[in-house]
Amino acid sequence: MKLTAISIFPEYFAPLELSLIGKARSQGLVNFSSINLRDFTYDNHHTVDDTPYGGGAGMVMKPEPWGEAIDSQIQGQNVVDLVILTPAGTKFNQRFAQTFATSEHIIFACGRYEGIDARVAEHYRSIPSVRVHEISIGDFVLNGGEVAALVMIEAIVRLIPGVIGNPESLLEESHNEMGEVEYPTFTKPATWRGLSVPDVLLSGNHGEIARWRSEEAQRRSQSR
Ligand code: ADE
Repeated sequence: MKLTAISIFPEYFAPLELSLIGKARSQGLVNFSSINLRDFTYDNHHTVDDTPYGGGAGMVMKPEPWGEAIDSQIQGQNVVDLVILTPAGTKFNQRFAQTFATSEHIIFACGRYEGIDARVAEHYRSIPSVRVHEISIGDFVLNGGEVAALVMIEAIVRLIPGVIGNPESLLEESHNEMGEVEYPTFTKPATWRGLSVPDVLLSGNHGEIARWRSEEAQRRSQSR
C-alpha cells in the first residue's frame, strides 16, 4: 500500500518511523512519503493561504498549490483514495479503516487554517480515477489535518495482512465485526494493590472464560 501525506509541515510524520508502522515500512508492506505543499507554490513567500471570499475570520488554503501537489501524485496511478481531513467531514471509524486497508494508494490532504478551498474536493470528485473522502476523526477541532492523518494511518496500517504478528488479536478487539468494545484484560500478578483478578480467569475453564468475556463486553458496550 502506498500512503502519501501532503502538508505544510511534513515533519509531523516523523513518528511513522517507529513501532509497528516503522516495521511495516521496512518490510515493504507500506510505502509512505510526505510532501511539502509549499514546493508547489511559485511566489517568493511560498504562499498557501488567502482571505476568504465573503469575508470572515481566518485564512483559507488556496486551490492552486493543492491542485498541483495532488496532480503530481495521481499521475500514472490506477485508482487513488484522496482523503481530505476536515472537522466538517464524515466521522472516521473502524469500518472505514477496514475499507481503506484494501486501498492501493491513499493521499492525505492535511489542511490548516480555515480549511482548503472547497473547489479542490469538487474538482477531484469529477475525476474518475480519484475517490474523494472528506473525513473528520471526531467532533473537535485540531489545528490541522496532520494529527488526524496520523490517527487514520495507524488505524489502517495495522489491518494490513502481515503487519500485526497475531492476526487473531484483530478479531477480539474493540469495534470488531460485533460492534462491541472489548472485555477487560488482566495479567500477572493475580493481586495488585489489594485488587484481585476475577476468579473465573484463573479457573482454566475455557467455556466459562469465554462466557464471562462475552458478558463483560456486552455490559461495557451498553454502559459506554
Ligand atoms: N482538522 C481539524 N480538525 C479535524 C478533525 N477533527 N478531523 C480531521 N481533520 C481535522
